[in-house]
Amino acid sequence: MRFKLQNQHCLLFLPWSHQRISVRRCMRTNLRNDERKFYISTPIFYVNASPHIGHLYSAVIADCLHRYKLLKGFDSKFATGTDEHGLKIQQAADAAGEDPLNFCTQVSERFKHLFRSCDIAYTDYIRTTEPRHQQAVEHFWSVLRNKGLIYKGSYEGWYSTQDESFLTPSQVGDAVDASGKQIKVSLESGHKVEWMKEENYMFRLSEFRPRLLDWLRENPRAVQPERFYQAVLLELQEDLPDLSVSRQRSRLQWGIPVPDDPEQTIYVWLDALVNYLTVAGYPDQHDRWWNVAHHVVGKDILKFHAIYWPSFLLGAGLPLPQVIHVHSHFTVEGKKMSKSLGNVVDPIERSLTLTTDGMRYFLLRQGVPDSDCDYKDDKVVKLLNAELADSLGGLLNRCTAPSLNPAQVYPHFCPHSFPSEQGVGSKGRAVIEDYHMLDAVRSLPGVVEQHYESLHTYKALEAICACVRQTNGFIARHKPWKLNGKDTEDQRWLDTIFHVSLECLRIYGTLLQPVVPEISNKLLSRLGVLPSERSWAALDFLPKFQEMTCPFEGRELGADSGVLFSRLERPSLDKGKPKKTKKLQD
Ligand code: MSP
Repeated sequence: MRFKLQNQHCLLFLPWSHQRISVRRCMRTNLRNDERKFYISTPIFYVNASPHIGHLYSAVIADCLHRYKLLKGFDSKFATGTDEHGLKIQQAADAAGEDPLNFCTQVSERFKHLFRSCDIAYTDYIRTTEPRHQQAVEHFWSVLRNKGLIYKGSYEGWYSTQDESFLTPSQVGDAVDASGKQIKVSLESGHKVEWMKEENYMFRLSEFRPRLLDWLRENPRAVQPERFYQAVLLELQEDLPDLSVSRQRSRLQWGIPVPDDPEQTIYVWLDALVNYLTVAGYPDQHDRWWNVAHHVVGKDILKFHAIYWPSFLLGAGLPLPQVIHVHSHFTVEGKKMSKSLGNVVDPIERSLTLTTDGMRYFLLRQGVPDSDCDYKDDKVVKLLNAELADSLGGLLNRCTAPSLNPAQVYPHFCPHSFPSEQGVGSKGRAVIEDYHMLDAVRSLPGVVEQHYESLHTYKALEAICACVRQTNGFIARHKPWKLNGKDTEDQRWLDTIFHVSLECLRIYGTLLQPVVPEISNKLLSRLGVLPSERSWAALDFLPKFQEMTCPFEGRELGADSGVLFSRLERPSLDKGKPKKTKKLQD
């Protein structure tokens, strides 16, 4: 092992099968400084076009992990931003008749606006045209150059401007363009490629294959999910060619000049990848954050992050990122999103009807890291109505509606009605399914934690939804509206039903914060849960069941600020139909 291992995960968050690996890692690293720190990044977004739901998906995944880490008490840094150099940005600015920097500023602002309006709680927004970044790139370049890893050479081969990527002959195929002309395209992206022959600087990528293989073998969870880890290993079965890391200035002016050679511009991917270091404070005091770096990236940019980036870092003598989290893509009604097909989904426009939490929920509930997922308006509306409006919103309504909870309090729990053991002859009114529900909710934080950690957020949401259904079943089974409030026993049981249900809701609201921050806030505020009582450490479900004190018992509920999530109309089916109102009790 030639580079420093970093603490990968803490034992606490991992399933048993991974614990042995983690113990080894934790022991070999300095946990004291880094254990409560976390640094997560999104890819930085190209500014040649406006943001779409795919971009928002990358950002929401990272945002969810960042928010989750904050809830766990971590000091978390979350970086996003825009990738502003390169030929395709230069061409897009030319086509728009704009000065490149003005053009970049305008589009970068659109990304910022999207992220702000979708509650992407980044702590740093980086633009590659910023001076701090230029300094970091120049320094990084000089380190590689001084180590003899960059040499002047000549490159000849295929280049895709759209992907800003060099390709080997086996990665290129034939195609016909819109005018019927024969062209060459990248087999992976379908984008047009051109033959390029240039004098430029080369990076000795070929030297790094063995070290990359060591890194991957010793860190089997460095690239997740497994499918993408295997894809990187497969790519490393063949020799790596040296990589061209500059372009002639005459062809590419829009980029950072090579230090000491103004005739050359630094390759946009080297420039862009260094953004992760810039944000960490490179070249000055970057260790603190760089040792705990995690990247979220789409599957299309895996090679850049899992082969080029680690090689550059190894070359510069820097630690490697702890985990590269890879996600798949969103298609729209079964087709790849593209301007020419006119099916690009604008997340700002959609969130006006779906709400920002609705968008976030859909992307994280439907998005599966391993495989592509599909966006369809109708499907989104159905899902949000079923899970957020009816199931979760309905549950909150049932527990807090003044008709059922006239005192508007978090009622008392009666241990006789719901004894901790369901014994024969006990006066308890709870049935076996109720005990099963308590077991499920008690173990829910552990389940959710495991899925949030591995970015299988859809599984976390699936587990939460299953518990919400169980709690709705609990209420439906015991029909509190049929109990006689004048009978003491009945009243105690009624209070207990609501106490238990509100405790369940408190757990759901707390766990959902990383996914739907606004809805969770509304829910927890309605329950009267204070901001300081919303962390992971405060979860502690139903303490009264273990004869412990419950800080919420007897507390007044928070103000009613309306329906948790209003039902949405289905675009194709509900046009013209009157909006359904929700039933209170069923
Ligand atoms: N600028 C580079 C990244 C440099 S990082 C050092 C880039 N930019 S991008 O704007 O093209 O893509 C940014 C992210 O959006 C990538 O993670 C990419 O996978 C993601 N997506 C782009 N289209 C997508 C979908 N249709 N669905 C999901 N994510 C998608 O690559």
